[in-house]
Order: sequence, then structure tokens, then C-alpha cells
Amino acid sequence: MDKVVALAKRRGFIFPSSEIYGGITGFWDYGPLGVELKNNIKRQWWQEMVYRRDDIVGLDAAIIMNPEVWQASGHLESLTDPLVECKLCHQRFRADQGDVLESHDEEHRNKGEKSSWTEPRIFNLMTEVLLGSTEPKQTAYLRGEITQGVFVNFKNIISTSRVKIPFGVAQIGKAFRNEITPGNFTFRSREFEQMEIEYFIKPDEKEGEKTFDYWKKERMQWYLDLGIKKENLRFRAHESDERAHYARNALDIEYNAPFGWKEFEGIHHRGDWDLSRHKINYQDPDTGEEYTPWVIETSGGVDRAALFFLINAYNEDKDPVKSPNGDNGAGRVVLKLHPKLAPYKAAVFPLLANKPELISLARKIYDDLRQHFPTAWDDRGNIGKRYYSQDEIGTPYCITVDFDSLEDKSVTVRDRDSMEQKRVKIENIVDYLKEKLN
Ligand code: GAP
Repeated sequence: MDKVVALAKRRGFIFPSSEIYGGITGFWDYGPLGVELKNNIKRQWWQEMVYRRDDIVGLDAAIIMNPEVWQASGHLESLTDPLVECKLCHQRFRADQGDVLESHDEEHRNKGEKSSWTEPRIFNLMTEVLLGSTEPKQTAYLRGEITQGVFVNFKNIISTSRVKIPFGVAQIGKAFRNEITPGNFTFRSREFEQMEIEYFIKPDEKEGEKTFDYWKKERMQWYLDLGIKKENLRFRAHESDERAHYARNALDIEYNAPFGWKEFEGIHHRGDWDLSRHKINYQDPDTGEEYTPWVIETSGGVDRAALFFLINAYNEDKDPVKSPNGDNGAGRVVLKLHPKLAPYKAAVFPLLANKPELISLARKIYDDLRQHFPTAWDDRGNIGKRYYSQDEIGTPYCITVDFDSLEDKSVTVRDRDSMEQKRVKIENIVDYLKEKLN
């Protein structure tokens, strides 16, 4: 974990927010490579969940909504965590995180002190904001889940698109929770991004079970297709007493993180909880039948996905890997990100930085590749160092322009994972990479 956190900082994936002022707990900034990784995750999600299907439409609702929404949805009374306070130092922690409490006790024991805790108190996680320029200002909330925007727009969506039940609404956006103990890097933040589908069905037990089962499998497959190792993924069904207030049934997709098995997506059977709380009904356009639809929800965290994709991809090749050119891989760090998630798809190097004819040919190839996919340029240090620098950020292919290139109009393409090198004609390079990347 420490190595991934250090790499994320050193190479520009993730920085602590407002770092020059000492940071702020629970907030993170994504650097030049982090924003690419996150955008790629969101693009892949939208591609598979919206464009590939004809039963799902998109939405981008506002972060701040009329506060009555949160009253109706139950979040003001129920988006809560039990909280305990250390009587010695007055720090507060979630009462359900036994390991965190234990290590806090130990910190005090090591100083010869004996800590004790207050009784748990309920703490609401909604983040308040004050709106308006005159007093009294209006109290509103940063949304605690992106979901409610879908429900309050249900009628708008039905009347403006041609969807009919069963159908889904997809949304990606920021959510905020005033978490008591943010931690494990970006895992538990106070500002984070969610990617969700609310899938509306007829209220029917069998249909509900079938749709729940369908979506849990779809969502698991999405992570597998993007390269998360199968042995590090599992489903975990919620016990009835740990389900969110809106859920009739719930399970998590969990990842085997360095800090334990952790949730990164929830599949929830919300029944008619939300639509009936907002007093919204549906009329079947074919039969005229009126009912309150049920909702099956898939709710993933973009930041948690980015974190787990990084951890999953992190490799250290300790032993030499067979490869020509003395580029033997020993000791290299390589991010084996799925090519669809890699920030750069290729990097172009002129063999020597002081040979204008190499630079000019390499620049031409670089300019051409950038029209097709994000491409990096590097002319610093020796070739081996440049390879390792790209390995560390997960660039699948490196292209070297050497003196032979001037004669045979070919370049060397080196594969990140196998480290194999191949000569490819310059005129074929775009097609060659497109085929490999797909
Ligand atoms: N609309 C349902 C909902 O919000 P949730 O299980 O509370 O359900 C869904 O959250 C997902 O949002 C989680 O699986 C996780 O990936 C992400 N998430 C929730 N709280 C988070 C936090 N404090 N920091 C980062 N991600 C978080």
C-alpha cells in the first residue's frame, strides 16, 4: 500500500488536496495521470452501461438539491454512523471500527496512559452548506449519494425520452459525506465520485430477484474484463441489520485490498422506497396500468475503483525478464493496467536526443499518434530509463526511432508486459497499436 501511495504521488496520479497548506482530511486531488485514469474508468463504464445497451439513458443532476429531497429520502435521519469519543484526547472514531479503536488504545498505552470511550452517539453524514447572500441563509446539503437526482427527475426522463419499464438511468458524479474517520488513502474520503445505475422494474418478487442477480453478475464481469484478478474479488451479502435504510436486499462487490476485503460497489434492491417517498407513480403507456416501480441499483465508487485498479496493477519484476537489448526488467516497477485504463497508450522516444534527423522523424510519429490516442514523449536519459519510467505509469507500448528507422522506415515497438520488441513499419504503426490496444 505504501508503495502504491508513493507512486501515486511521485508520478502525478493523486495528491493530498491543498497540500501546500498542510492538506485537509478526506480530500484528494487527481494529477495529470490520475485524471486520465479516472476519466478512462468513467468512459469505460459509460461505454458498457449506456452506449452498448438500448435500455439505459444518462443524467447529470445538480449536486445541491431542495433540502426536502433529503427529508423525503430519509437521509437526514438515516445516513448516520455511530460515533465514539476518546475521553483522553477527544478524538472521534466510528464505533464499528474495532481495529481503529484498538490501535488508538494502544497509542495511549504506549505513552503509559489508559484510554476510555464515550457511549456511541449517532452522527449524520450529510454535509451542510449555507446558501444566499442575506441572513438568514438557507441550509442545504451537498448530496450524500448521487441517486436522488434520478428519482426526482423520473417524470422528466419518462416524458422526454422513449424509455419504458424496464429501463435504467445512469449517472456519474460527486457525492459528499462528512465521514468521521476518513482513511486508507482515497478509500474513505469526504468528497468522492459515484457511478450508478437505477434500474426500474415492475414490482414483482421474481422480477426483483432476477434483475438483482443479473446486475450483480454484470457489474462483477465489468471489473474482471478490466483486469482485476478474480481471486481478489468476491460478493458479500449484507446482513439484514447492516443494510441501508432504503434497501430490501443488498450485497457488496469487495476487493482484497492490502487493508482487508473492502467494498467498492454496492448492488441494492431499493424496492419502491424512493419513488413512494417522493410520491411518484408510473403509468404503463401500453396497458394504462398504474404502479410504483421497484428499483435495482448498482452503485460504484470511481475513486475506490481507481485505487483498486492501481493496487491490482502494481508489480515489481524482481528477476530479470528475458528481453533483447539488455533491457532485462530486473527491479522494475510496472503498472499492468488494462490498456483501456492506461493514461498513455504509447510513448515515442528518439534514440538520441541530440540528433536532429531522429528528433524530427520521432516528432512526426508522435504528432500523428496523438491524433488517435494519448501519447507520451520522452527524450531524457537512456532508453532503458525511459522504458522503466513508462512501465511505472502503465504505458502499454514504447516506440523507439533509431538510425535504422531513417533507412528502413520502421521503428522498434516494445511491449510493457512481455518486454518483447518488434520492428513495425512507420506507415502501419497506428493500425498495429489500435489492434493491440483493442
Ligand atoms: N446510492 C447508494 C449508495 O450511495 P453506498 O454503498 O453508500 O450506496 C456506494 O455507496 C459506493 O460509493 C461505495 O461502494 C463506494 O465505492 C462509494 N463510496 C461510499 N462512501 C465513500 C467514501 N466515503 N469514500 C469513497 N467512496 C465512497
